[in-house]
Amino acid sequence: MTRVFSGMQPSGDAHLGNLLGAWVNWVSMQEDRDCVYCVVDLHAITSPAEHDPATLRDRTIELATGMLAVGVDPERSILFVQSHLHEHAECTWLFNCVTGFGELRKMPQFKEKSAGQGESVSVGLFDYPVLQAADILLYHADEVPVGEDQRHHIELARDIGQRFNHRFAPADDPVFTLPKAIHPRAAARVMDLQDPTVKMSKSAASEKGIIYVLDEPKRIEKKIKSAVTDSAGDIRHDREAKPGVSNLLEILSAATGRGVEELAADHDGGGYGAFKGAVAEAVIEMLRPTQARYAELADDPGEVARILADGADRARAVAAPTLARAKDAIGLLPAR
Ligand code: AMP
Ligand code: TRP
Repeated sequence: MTRVFSGMQPSGDAHLGNLLGAWVNWVSMQEDRDCVYCVVDLHAITSPAEHDPATLRDRTIELATGMLAVGVDPERSILFVQSHLHEHAECTWLFNCVTGFGELRKMPQFKEKSAGQGESVSVGLFDYPVLQAADILLYHADEVPVGEDQRHHIELARDIGQRFNHRFAPADDPVFTLPKAIHPRAAARVMDLQDPTVKMSKSAASEKGIIYVLDEPKRIEKKIKSAVTDSAGDIRHDREAKPGVSNLLEILSAATGRGVEELAADHDGGGYGAFKGAVAEAVIEMLRPTQARYAELADDPGEVARILADGADRARAVAAPTLARAKDAIGLLPAR
């Protein structure tokens, strides 16, 4: 069966972009694939922003709870926290030794995130893509569902895997499977409600344009009612000319399962007020079961901890033998 691996950083509260751009996909892939999903806390500590240890711990459990609430099913898939396995960090070291300084220096995300930090930029941020390669390659993942911005990281993982196999494994018995990136539909790009020309993002300046998965219905309604549109008054899908209205149409489409053109035709002529009311109602309904399930899980933290401990055991059962084989292949002496 096709193996899928994906991860998300516990770096802020999950929002509609995470849900529609990533999690909806994660959940549906469970139908016909063997999925491994990870809360990548070791990646989160590479962030240049000073992080607070207690907040990181809270966000890690909250993100895992969110994943379960949207429908990641621990019976069918493996859900675990990256730092619960030492294998990821250890494999990163092996990969560091087959990765070029120049390869990492030109990674677009590193360039962006390190800008302005000069010589004090952390080695962890520099090494981020190598840790990501270890995440993916330890599980022999065939497919990695990620946003378009992760394309270079997945290509690097492929290159590292290929190089390692070529140098240290027989051609007919490679250590690592070469992964490929899977990008969700373009329509799953959710834009900021206050500035519909930029992606809804955890790092936005204001929370007014972001709908969090756990926002209360009243807040959702308020945010959608004050979403930026335009002065024309017509309702049609045109990302260039009408980014705000188009974003709301796409959100409504994701929430109802109906096409944007059909929805535009239905609502055109009714005014933005009524249209926004319909979008708010659909989003509130879409989030209702997830919020209810989240509340149940949050009430029973022992259950989430148990699921994560079990997930770590099952992840280790895949990752440990892969790492052992890689260590042997590269020439490290077995301990016994
Ligand atoms: P981030 O919140 O940036 O760590 O992103 C985690 C995942 O959510 C990535 O795989 C992205 O593809 C997805 N994602 C984040 N923001 C959006 C957005 N505004 N629209 C669609 N997908 C998003
Ligand atoms: N870098 C990814 C992001 O920011 C998160 C991530 C870490 C990841 N390890 C991964 C995604 C492995 C896919 C596979 O979205």
